[in-house]
Amino acid sequence: MQLTNDIPRHIAIIMDGNGRWANARGLPRMEGHRAGAESVREAVETCRQLDVDYLTLFAFSSENWKRPKKEIDALMKLLERFLREKLPEMLQQNVRFQTIGRLNMLPANCRRQLDKAVASTRDNDGLTLILALSYGSREEITDAARALAIKAAAGEIDPADIDNDLFSKHLYTANIPDPDLLVRTSGELRISNFLLWQISYSEIVISPKYWPDFRNADLRAAVDEYARRHRRFGTV
Ligand code: IPE
Ligand code: IPE
Ligand code: MG
Repeated sequence: MQLTNDIPRHIAIIMDGNGRWANARGLPRMEGHRAGAESVREAVETCRQLDVDYLTLFAFSSENWKRPKKEIDALMKLLERFLREKLPEMLQQNVRFQTIGRLNMLPANCRRQLDKAVASTRDNDGLTLILALSYGSREEITDAARALAIKAAAGEIDPADIDNDLFSKHLYTANIPDPDLLVRTSGELRISNFLLWQISYSEIVISPKYWPDFRNADLRAAVDEYARRHRRFGTV
């Protein structure tokens, strides 16, 4: 168990505030999402420089499907283009790309790009970049509960054997260590259905900056703040 921190092994980020960033400039919300893509590039770069092993980015939540269709369609297009453009860079940077969430809800052309990025970076062993897409933590937990119930009903597992470890193995994040550091931008003090199980003992840093303004120095500052925290995990 790690009691003093240096560099977090896993950083998870709730990338929030794209729309407000754009509004503040009199621009359409979509311009905020476009500008946010550059912050994604910098976050990946910073994590590579710091030797972070896992970076999880909350890009689209289960609840975001309730947004106007026009914004959803534009976001999906942006995602597809982002993946197409970034794949050569990810390959060159030894980034392993993964996803969590109910991807079957995404348009087919997005899923194709996602599958391609996952398959072609599978053997990379540098930073693991995880995009949370159509992701909701309650959905993830209920999916795990259902999978375990099905196995129990089929006699494959004994309900008495369900413990934290077995449960974790049925989450979308089965092979990913829990985040050490959770960052949320735009100053909102809420979790918005992100990684509820996995952040049980994460250190939380809230930045007042909107996501498109959250750049290299800001992520480094969050990591510095993390290093000053005293993680106790319930001990004294
Ligand atoms: C975060 O920015 C990106 C997504 C949720 C897709 P928002 O779109 O939530 O921007 P705000 O919070 O309305 O400013
Ligand atoms: C959380 O941001 C989801 C993502 C960053 C993808 P939201 O903007 O959807 O969260 P709320 O609605 O402010 O809680
Ligand atoms: Mg928001």
